[in-house]
Amino acid sequence: MGEQLNGLKRTHMCGELTVEDVGKSVVVMGWVQRRRDHGGLVFIDLRDRTGIVQVVFSSNTSSEAFEKVQSVRSEYVLAIEGKVVKRTPENINPKIATGEIEIYADSLKILSKSETPPFPIEDKSNVSEAIRLKYRYLDLRRPSMQKNLMTRFKITQVVRDFLNRNGFIEVETPLLIKSTPEGARDYLVPSRIYPGKFYALPQSPQLLKQLLMISGFDRYYQIAKCLRDEDLRADRQPEFTQIDIEMSFVEEEDVLEINEKMIAELFKETLNIEVPLPFKRLTYQEALERYGTDKPDLRFGMELRDLSDIVSQSEFNVFKNALKNNGSVRGINAKSAASMPRRQLDELVEFVKTYGAKGLLWIQVFEDEIKSPASKFLKEEEVRGIVRRLDAKAGDLILIVADKDEIVFDALAHLRLAFGKRLNLIDESKYEFLWVVDFPLLEYDEKEKRYVARHHPFTAPKDEDIDLLEKEPLKVRAKAYDMVLNGVEIGGGSIRIHSSDLQKRMFKVLGFSEEKAWERFGFLMEAFKYGAPPHGGIAYGLDRLAMIMTGSDTIRDVIAFPKTQNAVCLMTDAPSEVSEEQLKELHIRVDL
Ligand code: AMO
Ligand code: AMP
Repeated sequence: MGEQLNGLKRTHMCGELTVEDVGKSVVVMGWVQRRRDHGGLVFIDLRDRTGIVQVVFSSNTSSEAFEKVQSVRSEYVLAIEGKVVKRTPENINPKIATGEIEIYADSLKILSKSETPPFPIEDKSNVSEAIRLKYRYLDLRRPSMQKNLMTRFKITQVVRDFLNRNGFIEVETPLLIKSTPEGARDYLVPSRIYPGKFYALPQSPQLLKQLLMISGFDRYYQIAKCLRDEDLRADRQPEFTQIDIEMSFVEEEDVLEINEKMIAELFKETLNIEVPLPFKRLTYQEALERYGTDKPDLRFGMELRDLSDIVSQSEFNVFKNALKNNGSVRGINAKSAASMPRRQLDELVEFVKTYGAKGLLWIQVFEDEIKSPASKFLKEEEVRGIVRRLDAKAGDLILIVADKDEIVFDALAHLRLAFGKRLNLIDESKYEFLWVVDFPLLEYDEKEKRYVARHHPFTAPKDEDIDLLEKEPLKVRAKAYDMVLNGVEIGGGSIRIHSSDLQKRMFKVLGFSEEKAWERFGFLMEAFKYGAPPHGGIAYGLDRLAMIMTGSDTIRDVIAFPKTQNAVCLMTDAPSEVSEEQLKELHIRVDL
């Protein structure tokens, strides 16, 4: 059994001792990083969240402590009393912050023993993510994970401080709410008291924050848990955290302005980086035309170019068919990649096929010739036009996709990113912010055979487009905006509809009957009857923001206890079966 503290008080954190402390008697507590036995001397590297300090045990200083330290192993929890001593110059360790001093131990308490951990507690330990997640509490002891969670904490501190100073108040909203279709699938919670009825866990506090505006709170924020039962990817988790914001009596510009100020302050305070204001802006349409995506990484160029006009009379079937079907022909210039081997070019064809493209055409531009699988189908002036449009010089590789716009954009956007990485064009130390604005309000859902809201059904159309709502729904642009950082959508929001009439029109376009709309959103429509201020807001993905700000590869690395890509918690084994008893109470029968 471990020893008790018995009134022993810690005086210092391990990583904070300096030469200033030389001569002091100190008490430190923490975990054993390493024990090195040099016969008459035993060295312990003791670790807490501030860092590591070296402690020396010698029979000359305390024979009792020296005896006791013999049994100590990695990850034992110790309390050590001792004297801070300056190291001799040849023993200084410049690699650690406390490298100029060490502690000579007078006494030792073994507070807790440890079995050999499944992996060494250090950043470079080469261990699979599955093992890290199973022993997450050990993984979190590693300095990089400690740093990640502390940066995340700092982010929420700075954001809270900014919002508090700017008149926002934090309001909590419930986790058990009504299921309202809003985007992803809901997580449902069965009601015991009302058999057959369910609560839903919130996908976001969207409707509640709008109701708070109707309640007159004027400016709201919340660091809110959101739950979505959707297909996961590297930057998605079934439960994630939003910095959720809503404001009254504002228009789009007001929301954008205060938000970029907040983000600039956040980067200054957390990373000491000056973010130039205002942010760049692209309309949704521009973003697609130039980068093929509504979340472009602006850290490098390689923009898409439309080649449709150049090949409008082309005899090449691939181009002809695409243009005939209202599609387009577009390309990028992968600078200096002309001599890519054939095998790799073939791999690129497979790569774009995963995005639905039927093929990929390349043109290799060399000093004295131009090579392409389609050279016999393309006229010389067409090739020349393409080369000119893409500014291609000797040594460049042109990559072209012809298809429906949607597929052309998607395939080229991914190719562009892949080449950005491959050709080392991405400066990892850069932060490129961008607002994408003027999103389409609606899109057509082929499966449901109806229009659906791109953002959510409460997003307001642009004033000048309202008349198109019934006539040409797909042409209507929304007062919606996304904040994009280095190719990641870190936040998104909109100005909301605040008139009952417009909201009714919107529901109608979305194909909700009056009854269905009432059944689902009745509480909101009722509230709109009693004076709704113009309002709008935004929500940031805190996990994504923290991922980028810590330079992590996945959002799992900035979440203390994340789920896997398959929505499982490997540490606790959730989700798991529950007892018959529990199910019976809920009037639920499992039918597999
Ligand atoms: P939206 O659905 O765009 O908007 O979400 C806002 C931001 O949350 C982050 N995000 C996620 N992060 C991790 N895992 C996920 N599964 C996940 N889904 C979204 C993204 C995204 O930009 N109520 C609106 C906001 C508003 O209009 O004010 C909303 O939820 O970074
Ligand atoms: P094909 O006529 O199918 O043999 O195609 C001739 C060349 O055009 C090949 O290099 C194909 O990879 C390429 N290609 C085929 N479909 C497309 C497409 N949709 N967009 C661009 N290139 C294509």
